[in-house]
Amino acid sequence: MAVYRSLILLAFASCVLSEGGTLFNPCSKNDIKCLSGATESFLEKTSNGFPDYKIKAIDPLIIPELKVVVDEGLGLVFDFKNINITGLKKQQISDFKMDTDKKSVVLKTKAVLNIVGDVKIEFAKQNKVFNGAYTASTTAIGSSQYGYSFKKKDDKDYFVVGPEVNTCEIIGEPNVDIGDDLQKALNNDSDAQALKPGYETNKVALRKKTLCHIVEAAYVTVIHNIRAIADIFPKEAFFTDI
Ligand SMILES: *[C@@H]1O[C@H](CO)[C@@H](O)[C@H](O)[C@H]1NC(C)=O
Ligand SMILES: *[C@@H]1O[C@H](CO)[C@@H](O)[C@H](O)[C@H]1NC(C)=O
Repeated sequence: MAVYRSLILLAFASCVLSEGGTLFNPCSKNDIKCLSGATESFLEKTSNGFPDYKIKAIDPLIIPELKVVVDEGLGLVFDFKNINITGLKKQQISDFKMDTDKKSVVLKTKAVLNIVGDVKIEFAKQNKVFNGAYTASTTAIGSSQYGYSFKKKDDKDYFVVGPEVNTCEIIGEPNVDIGDDLQKALNNDSDAQALKPGYETNKVALRKKTLCHIVEAAYVTVIHNIRAIADIFPKEAFFTDI
């Protein structure tokens, strides 16, 4: 089994090495349709990760911990552990802009995500903590802006993807559930009940905000992978006219 697996990896590796084209189809910088297709296909093909090229798995994508201040006024904090996100391999490009004068890119992708994790709900002002399960499903648009430059390796030009700024938008009302035990414990706690009206009036916005923190954290890995692949193939593997 181990031998079989490494044979498959080897076959994949040599295929990737011999033809950057199978991983990323080169496009004209003005052909947004081609670039969208090539990026979507790259994200899907590499969604299990490819350690040799420092490409990380994005489906499922695991975020070990993430702390979100859900509402400062209420003193409500969600401290997540082991967030498991599925759906990132099917990202649709909803916008792609490349400014070759300013050397900057805006990339927006849309995906339907399922999210599960452990959450520690903290009521900071009351110094109370409740643990349980968190599940959510939502459609999200992740957006990333980054600059780029070039470096030379073996007489060829390679893209260097600069630091990115990620933002997110949640489309429609997300579905969010917490585990039964957690819900029961909250229902049974007078402090939690006292905060409930303040939370309920803003529930949808607070849920979207929380999910956006998760999506933005996930997007760090998506862009990491684009940065990693740009380091492996010269610019001609991505663009026919840059
Ligand atoms: C993440 O969730 C997927 C889908 O439910 C599951 O197949 C996978 O085993 C999970 N991964 C981890 C590390 O929990
Ligand atoms: C509810 O609260 C009471 C008193 O604080 C406690 O005795 C009881 O175990 C709690 N029940 C649950 C399900 O947390």
